[in-house]
Amino acid sequence: MKTAITLEELRSARAMLPEPVGFVPTMGYLHAGHISLVERARQECTSVVVSIFVNPTQFGPHEDFAKYPRDLPRDFAQLQAAGVDLVWTPTPEIMYPPDFQTWVIVERLTAPLEGAHRPGHFRGVTTVVAKLFNAVQPQKAYFGQKDAQQAAVIRQMTRDLNYPIEIVVCPTVREADGVAMSSRNTYLNPEERRAATVLFRALNAAKFAYEQGEREAETLRRIMREVIESEPLARLQYVSCADFETLEELEWVEGKALLSMAVFIGQTRLIDNLILE
Ligand code: PAJ
Repeated sequence: MKTAITLEELRSARAMLPEPVGFVPTMGYLHAGHISLVERARQECTSVVVSIFVNPTQFGPHEDFAKYPRDLPRDFAQLQAAGVDLVWTPTPEIMYPPDFQTWVIVERLTAPLEGAHRPGHFRGVTTVVAKLFNAVQPQKAYFGQKDAQQAAVIRQMTRDLNYPIEIVVCPTVREADGVAMSSRNTYLNPEERRAATVLFRALNAAKFAYEQGEREAETLRRIMREVIESEPLARLQYVSCADFETLEELEWVEGKALLSMAVFIGQTRLIDNLILE
């Protein structure tokens, strides 16, 4: 497994890789969710590139950038075992030199949900992913359904900016009790970790009602709200039952829909979602 830090190192290592190249962008502190993307890329592509970069511009001023968990030696061992060809770990100075002033902004799709509660978040995500795409020039790039709006926004950016890259979205990998794997789960104490099961329970309660024939979106949102409110350690930020393509809130579920939510468990903000189809 080759490693690169500077853009020059990345470009010369990338030029040696046989195509098609599959790319998995990450912020590190890897878990089985990340590795599932790497394995999918390994199956579908001749070469696999992974980036690890905790991107400062996608964190709000009161968010967890400074305390975001980092463990490069452990990440490298996992990526080596998964058969990755090249790992790129740029520094903040490489990605954002002092005179940096160019941003990539996706408009409508970033307005609701995460975009509404994390101002500037998606501007940071699309800008860094565009820079990563420009440097790595993959044929395919892999994202997780766990971050449903991120995947939709990246797909839109790819189309709008004519990147010749196929975006592959992979299913959410969960712990045995249903909690979606996330680097942020390490913030939870044992009591909070038990409470974190409430997100998946709420999503499943709404999905069950949908399967029983419920089509009123507000009823599905209310079911999710009630389950979250039954958990004393949980504080709901939003629940949504939205159109899968536009991410606009629905009145009635007719086509494909996305159930999603953000919930604070203590100080830790968790998100999760399920698709109705
Ligand atoms: P990060 O949170 O490290 O996630 C990297 C990729 O792994 C994302 O595509 C995310 O959706 C996926 N992922 C995370 N948890 C998952 C799970 N439980 N199951 C399946 N996939 C999962 O998302 C980011 O980093 C950043 O925003 C990034 C795209 C790298 C830009 O900075």
